[in-house]
Amino acid sequence: MSDAAITRERLADLLNEDLAREYQAIIAYVVYSQVLKGAEYMAIADQLKIHAEQELAHALTISRQIDYLGKMPTVAPKPVRTSEDPKAMLRFDLDNENETIVAYRERVRQCEALGEYAMAEQIRQILVQEQDHQIELATALGIPVPDLQKRKS
Ligand SMILES: [Fe+2]
Ligand SMILES: [Fe+2]
Repeated sequence: MSDAAITRERLADLLNEDLAREYQAIIAYVVYSQVLKGAEYMAIADQLKIHAEQELAHALTISRQIDYLGKMPTVAPKPVRTSEDPKAMLRFDLDNENETIVAYRERVRQCEALGEYAMAEQIRQILVQEQDHQIELATALGIPVPDLQKRKS
């Protein structure tokens, strides 16, 4: 949807999708940080534990914005994929972070289009941490950080 067409109602719905992604991230990081096995994954497992706590803070911030817009925050996470393979788990996390970053970049533009500058600022701060998550996951996988500039949410 183009920024010109954004309304507060639509923004609240989109933030509820963001919230469902934050719940998904909390669950994935809680589980993956505990089940990742192997000496080469110990450092990233510790980082995933920190991610879990940061995702919870994001969920609280996003819920607050939804309430501020007069809507009820969702209680349902997006589905969480699991695997026995550590690389697959990290890959799922990276895919989710990529999707989250694309969504929040758009959300910042939409908040600004509505004159909601404080909300845009809160989402920018979340975005900074999501990009750190993305960098840590790509580094753990030994791949370049994906360029999301051309992706659309
Ligand atoms: Fe998050
Ligand atoms: Fe994240």
